[in-house]
Amino acid sequence: MANQLCIVLDFGGQYNQLIARRVRECGVYCEILRYDTPVSEIRALHPAGIIFTGGPNSVYDESSPHISPEIFSLGVPVLGICYGCQLMAYTLGGTVQSCERSEYGKIDITQDGNSVLFEGVPVQSTVWMSHTDFVAEVPAGFSVRAHSADCPAAAFEDHGRKLYAVQFHPEVTHSQFGKTVLRNFLEKVCGFTGDWKMDDFIETTVAALREQIGGKQVILGLSGGVDSSVAAALLSRAVGRQLTCVFVDQGLMRKDEGDFVEQTFTKLFDMNFVRINAQETFLTKLRSVTDPEAKRHIIGDEFYRVFWDKIREAGPGNFFAQGTIYPDRIESGKGNKAGQGSTDVIKTHHNMKEMPQDIKRQIAGIIEPLRDLFKDEVRAVGEKLGIPHELVWRQPFPGPGLGVRIIGEITAEKIAVLQEADAIFRDEIEKSGCAEALSQYFVVLPDVRTVGVMGDHRTYDHLIAIRAVTTDDFMTADWARIPYDVLARVSNRLCNECPHVNRVVYDITSKPPGTVEWE
Ligand code: XMP
Repeated sequence: MANQLCIVLDFGGQYNQLIARRVRECGVYCEILRYDTPVSEIRALHPAGIIFTGGPNSVYDESSPHISPEIFSLGVPVLGICYGCQLMAYTLGGTVQSCERSEYGKIDITQDGNSVLFEGVPVQSTVWMSHTDFVAEVPAGFSVRAHSADCPAAAFEDHGRKLYAVQFHPEVTHSQFGKTVLRNFLEKVCGFTGDWKMDDFIETTVAALREQIGGKQVILGLSGGVDSSVAAALLSRAVGRQLTCVFVDQGLMRKDEGDFVEQTFTKLFDMNFVRINAQETFLTKLRSVTDPEAKRHIIGDEFYRVFWDKIREAGPGNFFAQGTIYPDRIESGKGNKAGQGSTDVIKTHHNMKEMPQDIKRQIAGIIEPLRDLFKDEVRAVGEKLGIPHELVWRQPFPGPGLGVRIIGEITAEKIAVLQEADAIFRDEIEKSGCAEALSQYFVVLPDVRTVGVMGDHRTYDHLIAIRAVTTDDFMTADWARIPYDVLARVSNRLCNECPHVNRVVYDITSKPPGTVEWE
């Protein structure tokens, strides 16, 4: 049976995926749709609740995303957040104005009267605000349910029509009772029963995969990352040896990682496993290439070229599977972003490659069993399927692997130095007990050599940069305050045990202005 559905209408705000994740955490299945999805399409999906996200615009700008008033007549409860709250007021005849003073950050609000949204929330609480417009007059039929010093309508509602609006961001953890507010909306207003559970997901997906695949074969490109590993485990549970995992080792993985992936999958799961050792091919293609984007493209293209060849070799009529997850679809623009085309491509991620025509014609279809899941849900499924903890919880590793951690030309010698240095750094961090507090940690090999002294001899060798960050969402990140004694041990070991390293620096740049990776 299909799950109850909540629709998150995307008006281009930065926390849109966070809203969807929070909704899922309440056991409610939700999908993010573009703000301009026709109301008839929304009605046909039979949602039990709709949430309008925030967004960077002002409702009075002609180019800003608007919504047909019809959406409020569907009889489906709506919660407007930030821009979504202003849009609800504006569309239904209220007044929106520019703030004299923008509200940004943690703000105290006080409730006015009773609201089902605030059940279990103290009369005064702290919320996260980020707005330069505010609702000065609520539409007819609405009552104000909370205010702050600078915002007369921090929450308002038309209880009878089940329309609710909050100027603050309940999805952000800085909103003290944000999760309670969201849960109240979902459970008490919309009547969601919390029927979205990972156990059920595995069971229903396995059954659906068996039905779809029948007696055919499935080929999956395994990168060793969390997503493709979980997709592989799920498919193995569904169809066992009808699944062949193709693992392309481009030689840009961490030390011993290729062997670890091979052992994990051949020992723990019922499937065919093919490993293609393609380091030489990759190195040849990358010779003399120094531009970061060019390197990314070469690595991405080559990975798929090797992989497509394998599919051609297998002949027609097989399914092709991949570990695409929900954010991949949204971020690649195949999802539903408002204001498409306005976001700069900072770095090309290569999870979503266009498939060559001849392959499209020859395969039986594409299978993406995780296409509706967020990363944390993918991990939960992975654990339930028995994938080892270190693989399920491994820190993010970019598709181009160590290729984007070697600045300048990539050579076999530099890969070897970086692999060794990275293994030492990870070992020390794990032994120090800091690993849990870090979101990602690795080393970079800038194309820099410096003068040093070893014994009585002058050296002229590699510089290693350490990178460690803390972040909730990788959109912004802070450099991690690793204790000095841990840094000292790392530095000592890198210079003593890692051939051709004579200097170590620590990258103390946040994102922005830096990015997490160096390329
Ligand atoms: P940046 O460097 O953009 O990294 O701040 C944010 C997060 O994304 C990871 N990353 C990638 N992941 N393919 C991926 O699958 C890529 O091409 C890629 N580039 C960066 C990075 O490791 C960090 O976790």
